[in-house]
Amino acid sequence: MRLDGKVVVITGGAQGIGRGIAHRYAEEGGRVVVADVKEERGQATTDELTAKGAQALFIHTDVTDATQIQAMIDFAVERYGRLDVLVNNAYWSKGGTAVELELEDWNKAMAAMVTASYLGAKHAVPHMERAGGGSIISISSVHGILAAARSVAYETAKGALILLVKQMAVDFGPLNVRVNAICPGLIVHEGQNTAWQQDPFQVGRRQMDYPLRRWGTPQDIANAALYLASDEASFVTGHALVVDGGMTVQLQDSHSQRVVEFLRQHRDRLA
Ligand SMILES: NC(=O)c1ccc[n+]([C@@H]2O[C@H](COP(=O)([O-])OP(=O)(O)OC[C@H]3O[C@@H](n4cnc5c(N)ncnc54)[C@H](O)[C@@H]3O)[C@@H](O)[C@H]2O)c1
Repeated sequence: MRLDGKVVVITGGAQGIGRGIAHRYAEEGGRVVVADVKEERGQATTDELTAKGAQALFIHTDVTDATQIQAMIDFAVERYGRLDVLVNNAYWSKGGTAVELELEDWNKAMAAMVTASYLGAKHAVPHMERAGGGSIISISSVHGILAAARSVAYETAKGALILLVKQMAVDFGPLNVRVNAICPGLIVHEGQNTAWQQDPFQVGRRQMDYPLRRWGTPQDIANAALYLASDEASFVTGHALVVDGGMTVQLQDSHSQRVVEFLRQHRDRLA
């Protein structure tokens, strides 16, 4: 029970990685607030947690709205009396190059990913300080470390999150508030269209991206998030923990040779 009695808020906790973190935290004794724009799914997640005997609440929250972020933090403190952990997991983005992407979409992506994490800390840290410390975790991505094509907003925001956690780790360290990021590789979960998993070619092709020869699960990220939230990480702050099956440590020529070999073996699919 590594989070026994601790109060955690998880944005975007209705499905996917956020839901996985909510379950893991609840299993370890955390009292969980799930904040999401998806009411039905969010409520379903908290129902799953309470059915397991955990304490859990849902609050409708749009993280692009500053007042709703403050209301989310206030709600957790009003209902559970304290705040120990905040996970900034919700995101919104739209693909495109800098030429293609509209300013409105750029601003929305920055609001959902970067500004939401800043505002979350703004309202959470004073409560964490009162509780004697706390842990803030922002879900970045391997896209915060390396760039993919036509993804200017996502890459920028995920990269910004990594320096944001370092900066806030410096400011809030004296308050015993730790601030870390997690950089997942591909994580496959129930909230996505996973029809491609029925196709051995698609599965094999994706596995080739990873030295561990598999993509990740929400549990992989939830275990990392559990570590960073727990007292076991009490000397860890300002860190970006990469959880990607080794995808970003390999040389590009090593990876491309492996993929070329795979494609050679499946020439029929390239026609
Ligand atoms: N799935 C992956 O392969 C992967 C890889 C690297 C990083 N990530 C990151 O992990 C996090 C979760 O990803 P996921 O795959 O579980 O995503 P997802 O789309 O399945 O879930 C995101 C959740 O955020 C919620 N959300 C969206 N906009 C919101 C808003 N404005 N306010 C509140 N909630 C909002 C959605 O309703 C949804 O429940 C994201 O930050 C994502 O960038 C995911």
